[in-house]
Amino acid sequence: MIIKNNNTIHLQGRDVSYIMFVNETGDLLHFYFGKKIADCDYYQMKDEWNEIWGFVSNQIALDVYPQEYPAYGYSDLRNPAYQVVNKHGNAVSRLIVKEIEILKGVAHVEGMPELIDNENTSAETLKVTLVDEIIDLKTELYYTVFDEYNVIARSAVIINGADKEVEILSAYSTSIDFPMDDYDIVHFAGAWGRERDMHRTSLTMGMKAEIENARGGSGSQLNPFVMIASKDADEFRGDVYGFSLIYSGNHSTVAKVDQFGFLRVQQGINPHQFSWKLKPGEVFYTPQSVMCYSEEGFGALSREYHDVYRNNLMRSTWTHRNRPILINNWEGTYFDFTEEKLLEMAKRAKEAGIELFVLDDGWFGKRDHDRCSLGDWTVYKDKLPSGIDGLAKKINDIGLKFGLWFEPEMVSRDSELYRAHPDWAIAVPDRIPVESRHQYVLDLSKDEVCEYVIKAVSNILSTANVEYVKWDMNRQITDMPELGYNHKYTLGYYKVMSAITEGFPNVLFEGCSSGGARFDSGVLAYMPQIWTSDNSDAIARLKIQYGTSMCYPVMSISSHVTASPNHQNGRITTLKTRADVAHMGTFGYELDITKMSDAEFEEVKAQVALEKELQTLVRTGDLYRLLSPFETNYCSWEIVSKDKRQVMLFACKVLAVAQSKNKLIKLQGLNPDAKYKNLATGKVYGGDMLMYKGIRINYKMEDFATELIRFEEV
Ligand code: GLA
Repeated sequence: MIIKNNNTIHLQGRDVSYIMFVNETGDLLHFYFGKKIADCDYYQMKDEWNEIWGFVSNQIALDVYPQEYPAYGYSDLRNPAYQVVNKHGNAVSRLIVKEIEILKGVAHVEGMPELIDNENTSAETLKVTLVDEIIDLKTELYYTVFDEYNVIARSAVIINGADKEVEILSAYSTSIDFPMDDYDIVHFAGAWGRERDMHRTSLTMGMKAEIENARGGSGSQLNPFVMIASKDADEFRGDVYGFSLIYSGNHSTVAKVDQFGFLRVQQGINPHQFSWKLKPGEVFYTPQSVMCYSEEGFGALSREYHDVYRNNLMRSTWTHRNRPILINNWEGTYFDFTEEKLLEMAKRAKEAGIELFVLDDGWFGKRDHDRCSLGDWTVYKDKLPSGIDGLAKKINDIGLKFGLWFEPEMVSRDSELYRAHPDWAIAVPDRIPVESRHQYVLDLSKDEVCEYVIKAVSNILSTANVEYVKWDMNRQITDMPELGYNHKYTLGYYKVMSAITEGFPNVLFEGCSSGGARFDSGVLAYMPQIWTSDNSDAIARLKIQYGTSMCYPVMSISSHVTASPNHQNGRITTLKTRADVAHMGTFGYELDITKMSDAEFEEVKAQVALEKELQTLVRTGDLYRLLSPFETNYCSWEIVSKDKRQVMLFACKVLAVAQSKNKLIKLQGLNPDAKYKNLATGKVYGGDMLMYKGIRINYKMEDFATELIRFEEV
């Protein structure tokens, strides 16, 4: 709900308030973001501000005011929300409120994914139009709020009303000045194979924390999701603010405490290597930043994001359906396979109850290694004589669905496509393009290149029964042809994604980027699951999946059981441990199932059967993280159904310790008055006991011991 009361604008979500006001000089000032307040009046605020800073006129420096979309150069000396170089060559600006509108439904972000309306939620959008009349610059700020959630989604639109071109140097999606100087910033940093490690840093005066990536995609190095947390905040308690950018390109989140104890947090497109020319009358859209508030720590914040993203972001027809249990051939065969081998694997997989066979890299062009053929999306006949359609038919005849890997944004130097169109690869004049994993990136800023990609992928999807696509992107982009290029690329990527996912609405798409290097809410809008990391070791995955779940729904976390010793780090774990961890996500196998012993195969059968029982709960339930692998020798998470009747508890003791008492696990989110039965032992416990006293797990005496316990209300 949005309430406008004279100069005050009050956005109310389920238990959250976001309040701003317009002062006498027309500046849009921020007042409050936090736990819901019933009512608020401008004159109450005005008194408060008078007392502190002298609330008078534009002679007062804006430097001391908390603002909604601050400019640089007109008496605010902090980091600006936007910088536009005008015809005089300076970037000084001041936006004054001209119009305030309350619109039904969500805001629209042209060319990029955004939160969407849903029949079960009711959204309203505030549109504030601000104008700098001296340079004829117009800005529209959009704030979408839902009655059902504790989120405010913000974006901005910049319009050049002048008769000369202007240049945007930066345009954040959100900017907010919190009256607090004693908070921490929590961010998710990593690398290939160890994505989204959780880091927590104290924000102190003068220090600028910038969580940014300028590597072409959202990146495995720093995720576009950041939390600002009170000192006492943890999983279960304390004030936490989330900032999640619906964007898959270069991003930046900046946090800085100023001299008066204000914390300015901004999130949006990374200004590094950015510039955007706006001709007279042209419009620039920023991506959407989804801000969220929780007074109950990280856990409640995550559950909020999971609900918002499941219901109002992810638009795939598969979002609300259980995903087929898959087997992917990559770690089983790499490039070295024949049709016969694949069919042998598929037959064995079918016997285990697996539902989908995914053929990974190596099926096209002359692809026997990673040095050729990207871009040539036609079948490699020597390897697959029946073609993709023939293979798909054979797999279907075995009783499995068929899925296929693509890396459509790329081109190999050794490919027909590159020989025909060398100018389609991203390059800078006079320099040899930078090759990475022996490949170039296609220039998706060009319409004809996007058209080619759409056609090449669609051609396969419409001639063979492909029911799943793994959409990979295996390199970073460095030698970008112009400032602002990465945004053009990102818009091209979204154009291609929209065309293909809308063209094939029944296909299940899985995102991927050298593992989890593009795990962001922009990708999730199109693809309801993302390969979380190339590191498939169960123990490494404890941290990776724990960190990923801070923002992204469990159902989007693609997680496979692979061989042991693990191919990425050599660790030896039991098949049970590998599956127990993989059940937290979209479950599958990635190994040569024909090489398993009979005993292992029987275990796989049981795991597949169990997954079928767990799937709905994992997809629709509430996640509670109970013990952190970042802080303890344990890791535990729990998923509880919305009606609180079904519970899945996962627990891991990472290293065995002699004579130690195992840590108690206190469950959460249960009905304290209900009785819950442990489905394995038949023992019945009170919900209150499981939550307040907790239970001790009898781990096996070995490293990497895990338990998966299911409870059901009786
Ligand atoms: C990337 C992906 C892997 C696999 C390979 C194939 O590394 O993350 O899962 O698909 O590419 O080349």
